[in-house]
Amino acid sequence: MERELALEFVRVTEAAALASARWMGRGNKEAADDAAVSAMRAVFDTVQIDGIVVIGEGEMDEAPMLYIGERVGMGVPPLVDVAVDPLEGTNIVAKGLTGAIAVLAVAPRGTLLHAPDMYMDKIAVGPEARGRVSLDAPVKDNLKEVARALDKQICELTVVVLDRPRHQELIEEIRRAGARIKLITDGDVSPAVAAAYPGSGVDILMGVGGAPEGVISAAALRCLGGDFQGRLWPEDEEDVERATKMGIKDINHLYTLDELVQSEDVIFAATGITDGDLLKGVRYSAHRARTYSLVMRGVSRTVRYIEALHQLDRKPLFRDNTIKLYEGEVRGTKE
Ligand code: FBP
Repeated sequence: MERELALEFVRVTEAAALASARWMGRGNKEAADDAAVSAMRAVFDTVQIDGIVVIGEGEMDEAPMLYIGERVGMGVPPLVDVAVDPLEGTNIVAKGLTGAIAVLAVAPRGTLLHAPDMYMDKIAVGPEARGRVSLDAPVKDNLKEVARALDKQICELTVVVLDRPRHQELIEEIRRAGARIKLITDGDVSPAVAAAYPGSGVDILMGVGGAPEGVISAAALRCLGGDFQGRLWPEDEEDVERATKMGIKDINHLYTLDELVQSEDVIFAATGITDGDLLKGVRYSAHRARTYSLVMRGVSRTVRYIEALHQLDRKPLFRDNTIKLYEGEVRGTKE
């Protein structure tokens, strides 16, 4: 993929973040998501790619836009797979909490795992610990390895885990091993990426979250030289059937980073919606908004931070108040 595309993809995540951030704290996660999806979809069509959504908002019959299998872009080469999460952390925005991002990953056609919309058990670490952790290893052993790789003591490690009842045993094991834990309410992509950032305060992400988010996280870790493993975590027979229909042969398969993202020619872009460990959220001033994004390419491993000042009255998509723009069309709007 041409490296110029990286900036185009940032425009796409910026649009989603700008639209969604208007909904911060308004208690309406559906509307926040709809705004992000519509804006992302609109800007995608200005990008010179022939993209197919492989990770998106759901199946064609459940999502009007950015559904799995939808074509995005101007329909010209390169032929690519597109993984999107226009609003990663719908509850976060609805409640005005920290860590919501608009995010996407793009890679050559056929190289991103078509992960079904179900749970995945995950582990993410930075470049130093690459190849030294395994989902099959006891928690204690993984923590020992990461500590050794980072030249730290286990008690100096920070492990991020989603605060869910299903993680009770995992949390106890981490505590027994002596590591520190940061429990998060939602949004496990940001901390997975942060695990590969020196100085981010995150050393490792562990636990069960969304499989689509797993593939997106893996794309970032491929760009950063970190490591990621995932194993689908079906809740019932229906999940297993759905996975089988999507071509998953072995539901217990342990996916390595290179299986989740099969090409180094991958681009990952994210823009902050609310403030988080990785990125600041959208800031407003008179007729303007400031966004904070990062974009990285697997081929060069360059990470760019992009701070942009948007003159909103010059942008057709945001000329009117975004909330008005989407009112009437949005799900769950109470007023
Ligand atoms: P949404 O943006 O769809 O709300 O997902 C947020 C998220 O926290 C993901 O980051 C995470 O992988 C998944 O949901 C966890 O699922 P659950 O909330 O069911 O535990």
